[in-house]
Amino acid sequence: MSAAHASVPYEPVFVGPMKQKLEALYPKYPTKQACLLPALWMVQEARGWIPEQGIAEVAEVLGLTPAYVKGVVTFYTMYHQHPMGRHVIQVCTTSPCGICGAEETLKAILQHTGCQELGRTSPDGRFTVVETECLGACGFATPVLVDNDFVESVTPERVPGLLQRYA
Ligand code: FES
Repeated sequence: MSAAHASVPYEPVFVGPMKQKLEALYPKYPTKQACLLPALWMVQEARGWIPEQGIAEVAEVLGLTPAYVKGVVTFYTMYHQHPMGRHVIQVCTTSPCGICGAEETLKAILQHTGCQELGRTSPDGRFTVVETECLGACGFATPVLVDNDFVESVTPERVPGLLQRYA
């Protein structure tokens, strides 16, 4: 976590219209607590990631313990536990893609984004790069998800052109 993000005070998410939006979900689930995944998603959409205060807020609103909520946040890779860049790049490095060059592609992505390391945000705030498990496109190594865009057959040579599409 960067010092800048750490010093930004946390603004509660579930106030006003967002509170109403969450409460509108309650009747669609068997219990209020069962709204945990969408509630976390709402925090992430609002704040870009899920800080400890976000975990505490969700726990309080839904009547769960912070430890339980944290367990869920840490279980699912789709929930970000650190501030992220404007674009999140997920690279499949599972074995089938690994033997087809995923490591080299990943290296090129880390280099061209300026992230240098997995999980780090680039100095310009544009990108964060993370590894992911099989994306279900093993015949098209290396598959990459940039935000919600699925891009297959990414090679080190294609990386600069791919990154240009994202400001
Ligand atoms: S192993 Fe990479 S998509 Fe399946």
